[in-house]
Amino acid sequence: MSILLTGRFDAGERDEWLALLRAELPGETFVLEPGETVDIAVVANPPAGALQGLPRLALIQSLWAGVDKLLADASIPAQIPIARMVDPAMNEAMAETALWAVLSLQRDFFDYARQQAAASWQPHPQRRADELPVLVLGRGQMGTTVARRLAANGFHVVAWGSRDGPLHARLADAAVVINLLPLTPATRGIFDAATLAAMRPGASLVNLARGAHVVDAALLAALDAGHLRHAVLDVFHQEPLPREHRYWSHPKVTLLPHVAAATDARSAAAVAAANLKRFRAGAPLEHLVNRARGY
Ligand code: GLV
Repeated sequence: MSILLTGRFDAGERDEWLALLRAELPGETFVLEPGETVDIAVVANPPAGALQGLPRLALIQSLWAGVDKLLADASIPAQIPIARMVDPAMNEAMAETALWAVLSLQRDFFDYARQQAAASWQPHPQRRADELPVLVLGRGQMGTTVARRLAANGFHVVAWGSRDGPLHARLADAAVVINLLPLTPATRGIFDAATLAAMRPGASLVNLARGAHVVDAALLAALDAGHLRHAVLDVFHQEPLPREHRYWSHPKVTLLPHVAAATDARSAAAVAAANLKRFRAGAPLEHLVNRARGY
């Protein structure tokens, strides 16, 4: 039996994972190509079809928190269990990114960056944290960590999860909406024209989850019309974001290249290894994905 490590890794990242996983699981054989002996796949956002040719595959451990691409991959048999990554260091990184975005909106730092480019010296009135109500969408590990960090910094935070009733009713109160929902059939395109219209005039959207949560044309229209103040976007329908996309140069958009919270191999290798040890021991697995729920 062997463990396949595959997916999309930045330079040197795959070797780092391999070394850390080998150190955690010294008795295991790791391979980098599909084969007959593989019964576990440890994957980082693999392209569709990457897990074909694995007749003994019995467990997929994701190194990514979001498993929407794995669930959409029709070549993966539905009965094979998939475990998500839940990495405390990743949750903290997400909280840092959310805090940066909300602080920047509170204190107008995105405006000052724009003004610097135009050599414009123009102070704005200083707002307090509690003057900027924040709505966090998603009550999972990340949403909860983000909400706690923002509350600790003096922001008035309301959390919403899909079981909490209609979203639109909550939107009107928030000056900043932070999206940390999983991408599922129910949440795809959730930020459409109607949802954006339900947001308070002058509110800002921070999308740290998946690009497909947002209808781009509707968001651009809401920004252009002056209904929304700013959008902070880490994720996109197509990544890398195409060079010609309007987001790149839009004055009301601050964008990041999907870096809001990377899995931290130094902590997450142990998280993944612990699950694989449970699997080998026949013990219950952690963070299993519920296909019906979609995450
Ligand atoms: C990153 O987007 C992840 O899902 O881990």
